[in-house]
Amino acid sequence: MMGGTLVSQHEIEERLALNTQQLMIYAQELRDTYWRERQRSAELEQALERERRYGQALKEAQAELSATLARLRMAASGVVTALAMALEQRDPYTEGHSQRVATYCLWMGQELKLESAELESVAYAAKAHDIGKIGIPDSLLRKPGKLTESEWALMRQHPARSASIVEQLEFVPKASLNSIRQHHERLDGSGYPVGISGDAICLGARMIAVADAFDAMTTHRPYNSIRTPLQAFQELRDSAPAQYDSRVLEAFEIGWRRHSGVPLT
Ligand SMILES: [Fe+2]
Repeated sequence: MMGGTLVSQHEIEERLALNTQQLMIYAQELRDTYWRERQRSAELEQALERERRYGQALKEAQAELSATLARLRMAASGVVTALAMALEQRDPYTEGHSQRVATYCLWMGQELKLESAELESVAYAAKAHDIGKIGIPDSLLRKPGKLTESEWALMRQHPARSASIVEQLEFVPKASLNSIRQHHERLDGSGYPVGISGDAICLGARMIAVADAFDAMTTHRPYNSIRTPLQAFQELRDSAPAQYDSRVLEAFEIGWRRHSGVPLT
């Protein structure tokens, strides 16, 4: 008796059979679902593996590209160095000049907290600033006395000529071109080739101007007597702010002291 109603043995067996049948259907559906999900999971794992391999291949390609770019940059730097050395071979007084100017610029750049791209740009410009002198005759380059007006006119072209040569080198930063073109400009507008003044002169050119003048004064030149670093720096300071940027001079002084251990004041 169930709920006050008599259920026959037959009905109980029928209900049990029905329930069993439904349970078997559910079990079958569960198995199907399980196998479908398992297949999906395997496909997902394969997709993830493909993604991982693709990511790895991409990383390797990026690393290879970076290495190639670094090699090309080094090659461009090597060309600039070779051109500067070719020029310096013609004039023994200037041997090592471009490298020293580049070193001084790096010292100043570090003190001025320049970004690495700016440091790279100014180092290129410093090494290449005078390579346009390659087209100037030896008689003029090594002339001990004063230059005539026509000789000066030729000499004044060298910043633009240097920039034109460097412009041909694909991997030299374009920002270095202005530093090369403007390295003989002066803050008061009395420089060359254009006579621009103040902030119109880029920072790289101001740095090269200081390093260039300091090296010219502290190494043997046919047209000048050699000065001690202390004397040279004093002369530069006396010429600022008309010619040289006081902030750059200060960075040079700190950089010089940090690297040589000798104060300039
Ligand atoms: Fe120059």
